Amino acid sequence: MNKGQYIVIEGLEGAGKSTALETVKTCLAEQGIDFIATREPGGTPLAEKLRHILKHYEDEAITSQSELLLMYAARSQLVENVIKPALSQGKWVLGDRHDLSSRAYQGGGRQIPMNTLDQLRDLTLGDFRPALTLYLDIDPVKGLARAKARGKLDRIEQQQLDFFQRARRVYLDEVALNSHCVKIDASLALETVQQAIRSAVTQFINQCHDN
Ligand SMILES: Nc1ncnc2c1ncn2[C@@H]1O[C@H](COP(=O)(O)OP(=O)(O)O)[C@@H](O)[C@H]1O
Ligand SMILES: [Mg+2]
Repeated sequence: MNKGQYIVIEGLEGAGKSTALETVKTCLAEQGIDFIATREPGGTPLAEKLRHILKHYEDEAITSQSELLLMYAARSQLVENVIKPALSQGKWVLGDRHDLSSRAYQGGGRQIPMNTLDQLRDLTLGDFRPALTLYLDIDPVKGLARAKARGKLDRIEQQQLDFFQRARRVYLDEVALNSHCVKIDASLALETVQQAIRSAVTQFINQCHDN
């Protein structure tokens, strides 16, 4: 098994992505798999600057279209300059969010037409897709309560509840359609969620061994 694999963790604010990332890191390390961890938006010097703007810029309203394009600009930098080179060296890549976040947040939340999202995905990613996406599903009321308990909410986290309800709908629809996506009930106790993540990752690693 010397081919690098790209694993992504997705979900709403407070779903437990950062927490899950640590569980996945442990699983990969236990198997002796060499990996890097990334996050979106971010993960390169330019993409981290764009992340800061997307999360904290308040001097002027950011239009939905600008938000969308900045997200894809950051994604292009990360995929081309970090993720693809790591995969081609046989490293695994673990991502905190990827393209599905834009489909959920900018497509669902901001209600930008899905064919626009499709076009930007074609332009930015072509056929590039994660091998495994772990989607942590949570009711936004619960997720936002967890995120609030963690600290001050950023520009996107401050959106109204209906924004996140629309985003969740897109997540659920897309996850149901894509066989590389695994849905995990993130409303359960931390230990139960971690067990589900371990089991999904172990199964995926075993499949890679078999192929
Ligand atoms: N299953 C869980 N049950 C209860 N609290 C959780 C669970 N998973 C994560 N948390 C807590 O919720 C907060 C948000 O989790 P985090 O991993 O930062 O979410 P995300 O990265 O998806 O925004 C953290 O304080 C974390 O400790
Ligand atoms: Mg996080």
